[in-house]
Amino acid sequence: MTTTHFGYQSVEETDKARHVRGVFDSVAPKYDLMNDLMSMGLHRVWKAFTVLAADIREGDQVLDIAGGTGDLALVFSKKVGNSGCVVHTDINEAMLRTGRDRLLDAGVVLPTLVCDAEKLPFPANCFDLVSVAFGLRNMTHKELALAEMNRVLKPGGKLLVLEFSKVAPPLEKLYDWYSFKVLPRLGQWVAGDAASYRYLAESIRMHPAQQELKAMLQGSGFGHVDYHNMTGGLVALHVGIKC
Ligand SMILES: C[S@@+](CC[C@H](N)C(=O)[O-])C[C@H]1O[C@@H](n2cnc3c(N)ncnc32)[C@H](O)[C@@H]1O
Repeated sequence: MTTTHFGYQSVEETDKARHVRGVFDSVAPKYDLMNDLMSMGLHRVWKAFTVLAADIREGDQVLDIAGGTGDLALVFSKKVGNSGCVVHTDINEAMLRTGRDRLLDAGVVLPTLVCDAEKLPFPANCFDLVSVAFGLRNMTHKELALAEMNRVLKPGGKLLVLEFSKVAPPLEKLYDWYSFKVLPRLGQWVAGDAASYRYLAESIRMHPAQQELKAMLQGSGFGHVDYHNMTGGLVALHVGIKC
């Protein structure tokens, strides 16, 4: 039996996706509200920086992985124009439905697909940009998912991984207090679910730090990799170029 981590718990590797699904099935209806509350709106700034780094052009083919409620897909869709395309994907139907409804309310219709980042149902070399925001942390086989992202990118294409990362040491104590004392209470109060927000805090601690993730991208075939810390390293944007 091979085990892996689900937050601080050890679970069977084959069971992790089911646990992760349980988290996002539970948080989907209140996901956007909780995102704004727990980040005090900062997730909008992190995503705005990601959109800048994406440097999307009209006509680009874009794949948003773990796209959830569609924050990035919505902005990208305005940039690719009528000649481009943004495919909005997630492994979780509840998150994707919430996102699709939100995009429809904004007058945007995108190809929307339930799919696992570890087994992408796309041919090789077909996207100019692949994005994954706050999703990689939840995947069981991160290297496999990164290799899949590399496979579907065109040569010269860009991968953007926006994810929680390792905060600068002076922020650690405050961040731990906020993550383990405040977040689960906020989750209980707003979404009626403390456990999912405890998982969030734990999964962030289990995720590779900036340099380690950079090495993972390099090991998955990205020839040029860089990262940008935001908010004292609380979040990092890794940019990988397939070359
Ligand atoms: C924290 S949400 C992020 C949603 C959105 N990208 C955002 O930034 O607001 C993480 C998402 O990752 C998705 N996810 C987890 N494992 C996945 C996998 N193996 N393949 C695709 N999506 C996955 C979850 O279903 C969830 O919607």
